Amino acid sequence: MRPKGSCVVVVGCQWGDEGKGKVVDVLAEDADIVARYQGGANAGHTVHVGDDEFILHQIPSGILHDGKRCLLGNGVVLDIEQFFEEYDSLAARGVALEGRIGVSRRAQLLLPYHKLLDQAAESAAIEKIGTTGRGIGPAYEDKAGRRGVRVVDLTDADRLHARIAAAKERVCRRLDELGAGATRTLDEAMDKALGLGTRLLALATDTGPEITEALAGGRRVLLEGAQGTALDLDHGTYPFVTSSNTTAAAAATGTGIGPTVIDAVVGVVKAYTTRVGEGPLPTAFEAGMDERVRELGSEFGATTGRPRRCGWFDSVLTRFAAQVNGLTGLAVTKLDVLDTLEELRIATAYRMPDGSVTERFPADTLSLSRVEPVYESLPGWRTGTSQVRRLEDLPRNARVYLDRIEELTTAPVEWVSVGTKRSQIIPVG
Ligand code: IMP
Repeated sequence: MRPKGSCVVVVGCQWGDEGKGKVVDVLAEDADIVARYQGGANAGHTVHVGDDEFILHQIPSGILHDGKRCLLGNGVVLDIEQFFEEYDSLAARGVALEGRIGVSRRAQLLLPYHKLLDQAAESAAIEKIGTTGRGIGPAYEDKAGRRGVRVVDLTDADRLHARIAAAKERVCRRLDELGAGATRTLDEAMDKALGLGTRLLALATDTGPEITEALAGGRRVLLEGAQGTALDLDHGTYPFVTSSNTTAAAAATGTGIGPTVIDAVVGVVKAYTTRVGEGPLPTAFEAGMDERVRELGSEFGATTGRPRRCGWFDSVLTRFAAQVNGLTGLAVTKLDVLDTLEELRIATAYRMPDGSVTERFPADTLSLSRVEPVYESLPGWRTGTSQVRRLEDLPRNARVYLDRIEELTTAPVEWVSVGTKRSQIIPVG
């Protein structure tokens, strides 16, 4: 299944969990390289192959197609231990990995102390973010603070130990301040993580030149985003965001290619909206409906198991996502979850706390938590769609719903997913 162009970004357009893993897995069939450009083990990309389910946290979703090269770009924060756990478990399940995975020499290492700091900061915080506890914020803080440890630092034992010793001192002080203190197991965890350094170095590459050369040689590349637009550090619902740029422009900086080589940006949107962690969800369902859709869509976090909050499709957000990511097309996922609903709503605008109505996604997160969505109502289709493989076979009301999503989001729908299996996807147009 081919998107237009040789270098395609796949990006989430809501608060993550849009089904990017499935879309990347399907599109990877026609790609040669799949590269992750940001985030770390906070992601949980679920992919179904036949009756098998795989949850990928750091390794790109293209790994389940034989022979595809999978890269982790410089923009990721790489948790070495978790990475090799994932690597070994894929190998144990029969996935051939030899020569297929490359890790940027410039990627930051996410070390055990980052996880301790993340968890301690969350427990001590008055305004909690609801992080995944995977150490993401502290690892990116170290990167921006120019005190991080990169994959390339593993090549020089003296430099590595100097940086780690300085980090440990800083971390212990900070943990004391946060009242966490429990660092007894830190040395052991650090030894274990760094003990994997040689194994990691064997996978080291320069992702920018590798991707650029592949494109010049006529090969096809997918750049896989994690989390979603509304969790972007700059453009999301700050401070309830992750600590990286999740949006499409980061695909260039996060892998080391020039932005002009990107041909297309596919935005993944769920046919409704979900959010996990703290922060506003303007189109949130009322309690009964929230539970009903959570059960229908199995809306529980793939990384933390937390229940996701669910709500109506929010076109104010997806229109913003189309603009900020420069979307060239949309993949709408989980349409089948809505099959039994009598009525559907789409938010087309927000009524702001001062009474004004806006079609723009506000920068002010406090205002966002107080907006009242302006809804449009559409009739449900009350027919199963999971067996449908052609657009024209979808019930009429489902097509009307998709047309309205396309119109309001301002990007053409190119794929519709109606189930977890690879075959359950409808190419459009
Ligand atoms: P962090 O990325 O663990 O620091 O978490 C920051 C926020 O992003 C929290 O609200 C998390 O729930 C959310 N988040 C991080 N990764 C994902 C994801 O893969 N899917 C959905 N939400 C996520």
